Amino acid sequence: MEKEKQVIAIDGPVGAGKSTLARLLAHRLGLLYIDTGAMYRALAWLVRKRGIDPTDQEAVEALSARCRLRFVQGEETCLWVEEECLSMLQLRTEDLGQLASQISVYPGVREALVRKQREMALEAGGVVMEGRDIGTVVLPEAPIKFYLEASVEERARRKYEQLRQAGKAVDLATISAEIQARDQRDRSRALSPLRAAPDAIRIDTTKLTIDEALHLMLEQVRSCGRQDG
Ligand code: DC
Repeated sequence: MEKEKQVIAIDGPVGAGKSTLARLLAHRLGLLYIDTGAMYRALAWLVRKRGIDPTDQEAVEALSARCRLRFVQGEETCLWVEEECLSMLQLRTEDLGQLASQISVYPGVREALVRKQREMALEAGGVVMEGRDIGTVVLPEAPIKFYLEASVEERARRKYEQLRQAGKAVDLATISAEIQARDQRDRSRALSPLRAAPDAIRIDTTKLTIDEALHLMLEQVRSCGRQDG
């Protein structure tokens, strides 16, 4: 398989290791990394900034159709949202995650963002794209699909450690409840719910280090390349 044609889809619930592993995989394979969750978060940020009521479906959908989103990749990836460039750190807050999950159920929002995601993949040629519906809806033709999962306890523990290291006062039980609420919403929505594509390679990262999971994924990519070539 030619490197510039490699398209890798990664899906899974919050905290399964998608962002870290997608970023590392893209780096190792020289592909563009696209974090679609950041796009839903950026829209949530804009909804808040404009003072739009997130339950006003029509207003949120209208905003999603006209807002411009553009990734600037570099040492520190950022996402241009209209007139502002937001860092991943600014976007990765729990409240923006919950708001993103809430507005991502609207059909108009999904349609607008999926269209942008497909355009980005097409423009890039080779891409590692990660989210909830990449293998099932956005890039169903992707030759390599991963579905990452991990136990709720482990996902809560990882988040707890991340926040603690960032100097934030956190409570493990609250984090666990937030993760379960988000899982429930992302899995049960009518449109493009979180689920594994039938041909996805499932990896449970609960007991794996990042290096071990990355190694498994690289092996799979190489073996798909051998089968193709
Ligand atoms: O991956 P994340 O935590 O940054 O995603 C935030 C929310 O955005 C997630 O809870 C649901 C929504 N999302 C989605 O509906 N589809 C995607 N492809 C990515 C994220």
